[in-house]
Amino acid sequence: MAVLAINGGKKAVTKKPKTSGLFQQMMEEQVSLIVELVRKREISFSPVVKELEEKFAAYIGTKYALTTNNGTSTLHSAFFSVIKNPGDEVITSVHTWHLGVTPIICAGGVPVFCDIEPLTLNIDPKKIEEKISPRTVAICVTHVYGHPCDMDAINSIAKRHNLAVIEDASHSHGCEYKGKKTGSLGNIGCFSLQGSKLMTGGEAGIIVTDNKDYYESWIMLGHYERMETLSAKYNKYKANQDIPFMNLGYKYRIHPFAAAMALVELKYLDERNQLQIKNCSYISSVLEKIEGFKGAYVAPYVTKLGWLNFLIRFDPEYFKGIPRTKIIEALNAEGVEAATGRPGYIPLVRQPLLNERENSPAEVIWYHFLKNHPEYRIEQYPVAEKVLFERIAIPSMRDIEYDEEYLQQILDAFSKISKYKDELN
Ligand SMILES: Cc1ncc(COP(=O)(O)O)c(C=O)c1O
Repeated sequence: MAVLAINGGKKAVTKKPKTSGLFQQMMEEQVSLIVELVRKREISFSPVVKELEEKFAAYIGTKYALTTNNGTSTLHSAFFSVIKNPGDEVITSVHTWHLGVTPIICAGGVPVFCDIEPLTLNIDPKKIEEKISPRTVAICVTHVYGHPCDMDAINSIAKRHNLAVIEDASHSHGCEYKGKKTGSLGNIGCFSLQGSKLMTGGEAGIIVTDNKDYYESWIMLGHYERMETLSAKYNKYKANQDIPFMNLGYKYRIHPFAAAMALVELKYLDERNQLQIKNCSYISSVLEKIEGFKGAYVAPYVTKLGWLNFLIRFDPEYFKGIPRTKIIEALNAEGVEAATGRPGYIPLVRQPLLNERENSPAEVIWYHFLKNHPEYRIEQYPVAEKVLFERIAIPSMRDIEYDEEYLQQILDAFSKISKYKDELN
């Protein structure tokens, strides 16, 4: 008789998760604050923006924070401040979101991709140095899915070669490396506050630094309304008293409603991350004992986590001959909501736009910078190519109450699949 639910056996997960109530509480506060802004007609400018910047800078541990309309514009700003000559190179991970990388080209630079570590899925510091050329100006790292990068290793390479370090911390709000927040570990920290992130404003971003010149250059790029406050280097760009400043053609101002939403999210960020980690750590620790599966890897240097995506590991060798998609189908039948699509980013060099040089929609804004760069080749990124076949994404249990019975049911589903894998052949 079949045991697995996919073959008609009993489902492993019968309990419904209980919500923690935190999310609801946060939502109500957001609604009230936004309604208040509407009533006050603070619909384009509001003191709430400065409040968010000050509180976020204090939380992350940097001198400056500047809000923007989205995370992509934080990355464009960061690259704008470090790229000085057309064709300057920025070393970046091949396994990240495309909008963390294409702004390098929009800022006049060239992305040079680096392969990733098989366990953390982050840029592999051991492979960075071989990518450095006389044109390299910065290393950009993403703390992918919430797991911090090995920042001591990355910073020491940067120091040896006099490079800036940009962190794309869009997945890791509140996460810590050796007791310090991601975003404060390099020279510039970029955060998306888009709707799916650990801390959100719906559509928004925030960028942090200790460097006053970087901060001022971001204002010059996308915040003409703040140019009055800048030092002489930027403050002079005004025709006369009556005409507002002219900036560089971008308008990156945050919507006050988004700032209000993010301000409330910041208040609950640690509590929600903590709750999620309690749930995910339980799953991870028990999975270690189930043949064929392992929990999400956490490096010893991590002092605080928050999983944007919770990817557990599975061993294709153990499940030899059974496609990953079949295991996901079996998990779904047991009541585990494993994602059916790819469990993470496909290597960016697979994107056709990056290798098209002429007669392409990218020609006008990218070609000038990319034209001398050799074609990007997938063979150079074997780890990024392979890891997607060794991961399964399951819900990150962010807003549910810790309940061992419910978590145990999820684990029972994995146990059954491990034990009765032959039913899937
Ligand atoms: C790693 C990473 N970088 C950058 C971005 C871009 O942020 P936004 O969507 O807010 O523009 C995202 C958004 O998903 C992201 O995940």
